[in-house]
Amino acid sequence: MPKHIYIDQKIPQFNKTIQVSSDKSLSIRTVLLASQAVGVSKIFNLLESEDVINALKTIKKLGVNFKKRKNFYEIHGYGLNSFNPKSNTVINAGNSGTLGRLILSLLIKTEKKIKLIGDKSLSRRDFSRVIKPLRLFGANIKSTKNSLPIIIQGSEFIRPIYYKEIIGSAQIKTACCFAALNSPGITNILAKKSRNHTELLFKYLKIPIKVISNKNYDLIKVKGLQQFKAFNYLVPGDISSSSFFIVLALLSKNSEITIKNVNVNETRIGIIKILRMMNCKINLINKRIYKGEKTADIFIKNKKILKSINCPSSLNSSAIDEFLLIFLVAGVKTKGTSTFKNLSELNKKESPRLNLAIKFLRMIGVKVERSKDNIKIYGNPNLTLKNNYHIKNYLKDHRIFMMSCIAALTLGGNWKIEDKDSVKTSFPKFISILKYLGAKINWKKEKILLPLP
Ligand code: S3P
Repeated sequence: MPKHIYIDQKIPQFNKTIQVSSDKSLSIRTVLLASQAVGVSKIFNLLESEDVINALKTIKKLGVNFKKRKNFYEIHGYGLNSFNPKSNTVINAGNSGTLGRLILSLLIKTEKKIKLIGDKSLSRRDFSRVIKPLRLFGANIKSTKNSLPIIIQGSEFIRPIYYKEIIGSAQIKTACCFAALNSPGITNILAKKSRNHTELLFKYLKIPIKVISNKNYDLIKVKGLQQFKAFNYLVPGDISSSSFFIVLALLSKNSEITIKNVNVNETRIGIIKILRMMNCKINLINKRIYKGEKTADIFIKNKKILKSINCPSSLNSSAIDEFLLIFLVAGVKTKGTSTFKNLSELNKKESPRLNLAIKFLRMIGVKVERSKDNIKIYGNPNLTLKNNYHIKNYLKDHRIFMMSCIAALTLGGNWKIEDKDSVKTSFPKFISILKYLGAKINWKKEKILLPLP
């Protein structure tokens, strides 16, 4: 099968109901927490993407067995710090920053030396953000340049810490919470607000945790060395994956879509808040609470033109994985100039997304001005494309691939988009859902048919 796709037709009008792949953050967290629980956990609807499969392979290498049953995964945990790896174990986190950073935090007390590696994209990402707090806990970590490969060897002398997390990174916050599980006493984390799945899971699992919130920060207190029991969990749909279809419907003439059973946790729905600020109508229906997490069906309808915004950077963390799509909407659907600030974290993702998003928008004819980590997008709501576009050299970033497909299917032009397999990291069903909605995706450039004489 070729590694790229061609799109040369806009998606015809659609009005359908879909279900997207399961949430990646919750899938990785439930696998890792099940590996620390006592007994057999059952995870239903686990996301079967490369990042999550790598999480399963990782716990297996560390001595925790799992079995795939008909509609759930069974994970056999033996409690805190029960990893039992062979000597010279190498763990490969693949493309996943979440897995790479979180697994280190569960190894701070493991006797054997473990080497952590990852793919090309993960190997260029910063690990100092977790190395720093984990060393304070007492872990022995070796790494040149604060990036992969990393060698970690646990210590017997683990202590609780006080840590101030100022980026708004859920990965750093979670690494501290996970490390706190194996530390005596109480760990205190003052964390800039970010997705709070870990805190909600700890509460559901009755792991002693207290969260004291103020406007921008949460003080999180975790009492360590408390065993917890195995659990059952049904993973809801992923808002980040849903966002591609929210924007597809928004940019497709006379179209509407309902996305069933999506996690709409307040700390994840920055994109919904931002699109609503732009005047977009998005309805959350059938709202429910499942084990502390809010879920709902999302309904969205195409709208002619939206208004530009000055996006508050307090929403950055809750929309961190959706900015490529938000910029696209600002560029091709709004009238006026939109501003987005303090976006340095975007360049630290699977690819330098801020740089690549600007390049992409300019390529399709949207004016963008940048000063440091702030950008100004000049909306061009009547944009129709006719040229050829080739998307390549983006470190196989799954979200750039998917955003490019949405642009190609709604703006016109002839597109060749490379690395279609990148969707396997987070959203394996992406292309089949596009096809179900009526998109024409070609694996080969269609032959140009000569007109009959
Ligand atoms: C994630 C947190 C975010 C996000 C990533 C998943 C998580 O990263 O970009 O895709 O599951 O905790 P940061 O916490 O580094 O911002």
